[in-house]
Amino acid sequence: MGFCKNACDIIGIMKESTKGAINKMSKKIVAIVGSLRKESLNKKLALKAKEIVGEEAEFEILEYSDIPFMNEDIEFPAPKEIERIRKQIKEADGIWIFTPEYNHFFSGVLKNLLDWMSRPVSKTEGNVLEGKPVALSGMSPGMSGTILAQDNLVTLLSFLNMDIMNAPRLIIPRASTLVNEGVLELGNSEKYLIRQKDAFLKYLDK
Ligand SMILES: Cc1cc2nc3c(=O)[nH]c(=O)nc-3n(C[C@H](O)[C@H](O)[C@H](O)COP(=O)(O)O)c2cc1C
Repeated sequence: MGFCKNACDIIGIMKESTKGAINKMSKKIVAIVGSLRKESLNKKLALKAKEIVGEEAEFEILEYSDIPFMNEDIEFPAPKEIERIRKQIKEADGIWIFTPEYNHFFSGVLKNLLDWMSRPVSKTEGNVLEGKPVALSGMSPGMSGTILAQDNLVTLLSFLNMDIMNAPRLIIPRASTLVNEGVLELGNSEKYLIRQKDAFLKYLDK
């Protein structure tokens, strides 16, 4: 009948009724991993970030392995995969990119995705990246730890007028030494990931 029997139930109902409000206030982060590889180090890092974010925000890893190559012949109407991703990005408060380094650059699949997202949705609606807060992380087995890939990515993201959190960025070199039987063990680097998570959540609140 909607009425509770005792005080515990009342507290329970109050908890239930405030749940929606709390959830509404929580930020939504969409993570983009620039590698499609099953055992991707950067995917493992994104999963670790999801674990560290925990209940502090919604955190979802974007699935985009099914999108076509950008080709203006198929741009309008946009393929359904592109529409789905645009919706996800539009609803996000922030984007967190986990990039590999390919030949001192970021990967082609990431560029393809960003090229799609850089285009206006329609004649009356602009692109979904404009002004969107973005954080950058990456790991690679080499010594550069993706720093060059990230610098190149910053050039693109700033051209797209995204709101880049320039510091802290997370760079993890010699990454293969941190994987034990397929499991990423960040060790001393974990505190830097936590620091970046704290900074990005604060950045999203500004
Ligand atoms: C085409 C290609 C180019 C690469 N170039 C670099 C590079 O410039 N610097 C680097 O540190 N690692 C380079 N690597 C190694 C990648 O960093 C490594 O494969 C890494 O694990 C890829 O990221 P992922 O594990 O998230 O897939 C390259 C790998 C590929 C396939």
